[in-house]
Amino acid sequence: MPTPIIRRAGPADAEALSQIGAETFTETFAHLYPPEDLADFLPYAYGLGRTRSDLADPAKAHWLVEAEGRAVGYALAGPCDLPHPEVTPDCGELKRLYLLKAFQGGGAGRQLLEEALAWLQDQGRQGLWIGVWSENHGAQRLYGRLGFEKVGEYGFPVGKTLDREFILRRTAAASA
Ligand SMILES: CC(C)(COP(=O)(O)OP(=O)(O)OC[C@H]1O[C@@H](n2cnc3c(N)ncnc32)[C@H](O)[C@@H]1OP(=O)(O)O)[C@@H](O)C(=O)NCCC(=O)NCCS
Repeated sequence: MPTPIIRRAGPADAEALSQIGAETFTETFAHLYPPEDLADFLPYAYGLGRTRSDLADPAKAHWLVEAEGRAVGYALAGPCDLPHPEVTPDCGELKRLYLLKAFQGGGAGRQLLEEALAWLQDQGRQGLWIGVWSENHGAQRLYGRLGFEKVGEYGFPVGKTLDREFILRRTAAASA
C-alpha cells in the first residue's frame, strides 16, 4: 500500500471532499439502511453546498488523505454540536474520520485523528468530543486509546432510521 499523504483541505477541494465523504460513508455503512434513507442522507450530509460552506467556516477544518493520485480519506473538526448538557460553545468535536477500506489499518486513521485533535486544541477548544455509532467497536477502541470516554448517547438520523450513537469526551487533563 503506498504511504498516504495527509494535508489540510481548502476551497478547491470541495468536490473531492464531497465525493470521498459519500463514498466512504456508503462503503462503511450503506448496508445498515434502506436505500431510501441513504438516498435522503447522502446529498444532505455530503452535498457540495454544505461542503463548501463548511470549508468557508474558519471555525472548522478538513483534512484530506491522498494516495495513488486521489482522495482516499478525510477528517472534519470544528465546534461541538453534540446534544449533551455539558457541551459549551468552547468545546471542540471531531465530526468525521473516514478512510476507504483499502487504506485502513496502516496508521493513517490515527495520524489523521491526532492531527485534527491537535488543531482543535490549538484553537483553544476546551474539552474534545466525538460521536460514534454504538456498534462501531473498532473506532471506539481507537478513541479509547486516545483518552475518550463515553459520557452519553443520542439518536442520529439517517433518513428515517435513528442510529444509537455514543457521545465520547476527552477532558483537557487527559493525554494521548
Ligand atoms: C476509524 C478509522 C479512520 C481508523 O483508521 P485506520 O487507519 O484503520 O486506523 P489505524 O491503522 O491508524 O489504527 C488501527 C486502529 O483503528 C481502530 N479500528 C477502527 N476501525 C477498525 C476496524 N474496522 N477493524 C480494526 N480496527 C479498527 C482500532 O482501534 C485499530 O487498532 P487495533 O488494531 O489496535 O485494534 C478507519 O478504520 C475507518 O475509516 N473506518 C471506517 C469509518 C469509521 O468507522 N469512521 C469512524 C466514524 S466515528
